[in-house]
Amino acid sequence: MKLAVVGGGSTYTPELIDGFSRLRDTLPIEELVLVDPAADRLELVGGLARRIFAKQGHPGRITTTSDVDAGVAGADAVLLQLRVGGQAARNQDETWPLECGCVGQETTGAGGLAKALRTVPVVLDIAERVRRANPDAWIIDFTNPVGIVTRALLQAGHKAVGLCNVAIGFQRRFAKLLDVAPSEVYLEHVGLNHLTWERGVRLGGPGGADLLPRLLAEHGDSLAADLRLPRAVLDRLGVVPSYYLRYFYAHDEVVRELRTKPSRAAEVAEMEKQLLEMYGDPALDEKPELLSKRGGAFYSEAAVDLAASLLRGGGSPVQVVNTYNNGTLPFLADDAVIEVQARVDTTGAVPLPVAALDPLYAGLIANVTAYEDLALEAALHGGRDRVFKALLSHPLIGQYEYAEALTDQLIAHNREHLAWV
Ligand code: G6P
Ligand code: MN
Repeated sequence: MKLAVVGGGSTYTPELIDGFSRLRDTLPIEELVLVDPAADRLELVGGLARRIFAKQGHPGRITTTSDVDAGVAGADAVLLQLRVGGQAARNQDETWPLECGCVGQETTGAGGLAKALRTVPVVLDIAERVRRANPDAWIIDFTNPVGIVTRALLQAGHKAVGLCNVAIGFQRRFAKLLDVAPSEVYLEHVGLNHLTWERGVRLGGPGGADLLPRLLAEHGDSLAADLRLPRAVLDRLGVVPSYYLRYFYAHDEVVRELRTKPSRAAEVAEMEKQLLEMYGDPALDEKPELLSKRGGAFYSEAAVDLAASLLRGGGSPVQVVNTYNNGTLPFLADDAVIEVQARVDTTGAVPLPVAALDPLYAGLIANVTAYEDLALEAALHGGRDRVFKALLSHPLIGQYEYAEALTDQLIAHNREHLAWV
């Protein structure tokens, strides 16, 4: 089995390699190609990746290339984890929306739209190359914004599934609190990528007892503290929102906070410098502790599980992924991309039925889906008007004055990445 990772020079890659290595029985990789335009990073990351495989006795071969076509040739699956413009572009996404009093975040709000506009054309180009090289290859998209990117891929007819680590993070956290194996924890996870809620935490599978009320009663304080939301919000809703919901439920508070500290991109850039220095040390042969300060915890385990199911039917039969709605949430179009539990096998992902949603969640999901629709239109066809409409439709923006100002800022800060400007 051959896998290619586009964006393989990412400092996240050792997390992935560590997972591939530990879980080699689930996903027996013979060849792994790390593809990245940044040759210097590739060398550092590739070197550490080989040492991790060697230390753990993984027989697979790891190669590196900056040539996408060469890298994806013969691959059975291609993982996309790229970041167009790197942390510098992310820093912009997190900064200029604040001038309008709007949240500055890389996947939510105006920053997320900027990222979508930069990313969708690049990902579609790579996906075309993957299809040309091997029409049967699966594309696993971890590239943000995952909902919009996955929709772009599916609309263009690619064999793609979108992946995020938010659900597996909750699964692992709840399992620890309940003192059971993670595989025993079945989440009633619903929404869109980075806009999800855990509505139930069932033991053993979808039919098991719901332990969410107990978790909230016994661990409400620490769960709320992790999310940086008041416990009363969790108690009143009776659900656990993902931490991305803080950008909605505590928008103004977040804006005030973001204005007083360096951006996450600046923090990450600093960490990346240190990480790359560590990766260059020939004595290092495991993922360093510092990597756990990044947001990608358990990403590798989710990716192995998904790739195993798509390629061999050998992973968990049901997993949280991003795929077409196809009637699952009846208030959305079939071709909206949702993030829910789905049956995954070699034919792809099919969402499991979802219980009727309270308007409190359905309303926001519908609104953000409409935004994603318009965002994808803007990413595919460009134009100031399309950008403006996408921003105006976003529940965190909504006013024409802000949408106008943010449109100008978005275009000004992303000129070099937008073909139509
Ligand atoms: C989580 C999200 C990812 C996001 C990451 C950012 O893992 O699910 O979609 O890319 O956080 O982490 P960072 O360390 O770059 O802030
Ligand atoms: Mn994510």
